[in-house]
Amino acid sequence: MPTRSRAPHTPRAVLFDAFGTLFDVYSVSTLAEQLFPGQGERLSMLWRDKQIEYSRLASMSGVQGERYRPFWEITRAGLRYAAQRLGLPMDAAAEDRLMNQYHHLSSFPENKPVLQALKARDIPAGILSNGDPQMLAVAVKSAGLDGLLDPLISVHETRRYKTDPAAYALGPAALKLPVRDILFVSSNGWDAIGATWYGYTTLWVNRAGLPLEQLDTEPTRIGSSLRAVLDFFPTPSNRTTP
Ligand code: LAC
Repeated sequence: MPTRSRAPHTPRAVLFDAFGTLFDVYSVSTLAEQLFPGQGERLSMLWRDKQIEYSRLASMSGVQGERYRPFWEITRAGLRYAAQRLGLPMDAAAEDRLMNQYHHLSSFPENKPVLQALKARDIPAGILSNGDPQMLAVAVKSAGLDGLLDPLISVHETRRYKTDPAAYALGPAALKLPVRDILFVSSNGWDAIGATWYGYTTLWVNRAGLPLEQLDTEPTRIGSSLRAVLDFFPTPSNRTTP
């Protein structure tokens, strides 16, 4: 990494949460609406909530991670619950189509220019996600973000999901940087708070205008799109707005 004098607290690398932050988990609602008219939005929201709930259940219940299941399985379990809860007749084909959407989630439009701007400035930018390695690789490729994100860190090897400290510890270990020198970016309010507690410099991308988690902790900054990442990095005079 080039040695440059930096103002204190200017991060030296960026790690993005994946699902919700780079990839729109609610983009499944279009297909869900086609399959179950009038229920697409409710299904996609309940599905996401159950997915996250199950990840916590799996992490918190096992002493040695024995309740861990890969995020792909957790995601399928969340979908099955959500469909049953809403009384939807989801057959195997519909389930497979919805799960396949998780490999092809929409990527937010500002992602690419922001990642390109980081790359142009030699700022390492990767992912730290609950997603298992296969899910991450496919989602990145499908979104056309190949070559712009490295490393792709999955919590899989720890058998613990965020917000477990073992999951957040993977970031500084992989980047060989003090945690405070890493900007962790998430659209999930709980993830931004968990990372702040762990010691990261944090950005909560609050696209939906949601209230701050009421836990007496604020992320380092709050933005409304991924573009707010670039504000952490003072630019030379030839500033370009992506
Ligand atoms: C992730 C979850 C939070 O990508 O969706 O880590």
